[in-house]
Amino acid sequence: MSAKSRRLDKFDDLVKELEEAIMEDARQIFTEKTIEEAYNPKNVGEIDNPDGAARITGPCGDTMQIHLKLDGDVIVDCKFMTDGCGPTIACGSVITELVKGRTVEEASKISEKDILDVLGGLPEEHLHCPVLAVNTLKAAIKELKKKL
Ligand code: FES
Repeated sequence: MSAKSRRLDKFDDLVKELEEAIMEDARQIFTEKTIEEAYNPKNVGEIDNPDGAARITGPCGDTMQIHLKLDGDVIVDCKFMTDGCGPTIACGSVITELVKGRTVEEASKISEKDILDVLGGLPEEHLHCPVLAVNTLKAAIKELKKKL
């Protein structure tokens, strides 16, 4: 093995150790579900010609965008994008899953608590993250209703 590939192996080991340390820290603060949703979020992206769309910036400066697609009265697709923190990504992922397959009326009733129930809670300093997700959803539904 060359000196260069030994250095690369050492570097890989260091990166792995760092990743494990970061995950260990995250586990002290967040639930497994939150970590899973933050690292493997569902429904990320945009919908071509969405029936409802909104982009909102929360008080912390993070932005979330939600797109909705309707079939009759049912929201058949929902996608999100955010430049926010890990918990915000987790909240976006969860809210899109909660929205899909619901009627517009049912989706309007989705609350921060519904997201927190799925995630198993969030630390106090991140309680505004589900609020941003819900506010963005409500704004997207408002836009969607204009077209109904
Ligand atoms: Fe700003 Fe999560 S820290 S929405």
